[in-house]
Amino acid sequence: MISDKEKWDYRHANNPAPTNPLELLVQNIIFAKKGKALDIACGMGRNSLFMRDNGFVVDSVDISPFAISHLQNLPNINPICANLDTFIIPKENYDLICNSFFLERRLFPFIIEGLKKGGILIFETFVKNDDESCNAPISNPSHLLRKNELLKAFLDLEILFYEEKLTQVSNNYSPAFAITARLVARA
Ligand SMILES: C[S@@+](CC[C@H](N)C(=O)[O-])C[C@H]1O[C@@H](n2cnc3c(N)ncnc32)[C@H](O)[C@@H]1O
Repeated sequence: MISDKEKWDYRHANNPAPTNPLELLVQNIIFAKKGKALDIACGMGRNSLFMRDNGFVVDSVDISPFAISHLQNLPNINPICANLDTFIIPKENYDLICNSFFLERRLFPFIIEGLKKGGILIFETFVKNDDESCNAPISNPSHLLRKNELLKAFLDLEILFYEEKLTQVSNNYSPAFAITARLVARA
């Protein structure tokens, strides 16, 4: 059976990745104190590069060696090729954490602990929809959030913004419409 690493390497090598940073990150980066950032499942690095360009030193983590190789030798980017199923987030280490279109529930408590006091979490990914025609084309349904799951998972943080809504998604990872949950929270 093909591994996640092989699957994502193939996808990254054969599909042009979106280069525009996550809108939620663009709109809310202002709330984070400049310092250290973590990009969880960074892919080809659109959000890492945006955070770097806005004054952060970024740890960019992804399972795909192909994706990570594109982030080598760039100033203020620390590319880390690792499996987030087992990755340890250092405690009270980050001023900003971005999790964009990736879901590993095991990480939720470590994300909270990984934020410095006042640190900002930006999290957006797909939610399971009762209408199957508007579901993201994700082969493993456990990679879709349940309704309100993201909000409940981070209630120990100060919630600055939360919404779940049907969104037109134009990147290569998505169908025309899907529900996404969008969270901005502060430690
Ligand atoms: C839909 S892409 C999102 C990429 C990026 N966050 C963005 O928004 O452009 C999901 C990413 O998760 C990575 N990924 C999948 N499973 C992983 C795992 N177990 N550990 C680390 N990265 C993983 C893939 O390589 C891919 O880059």
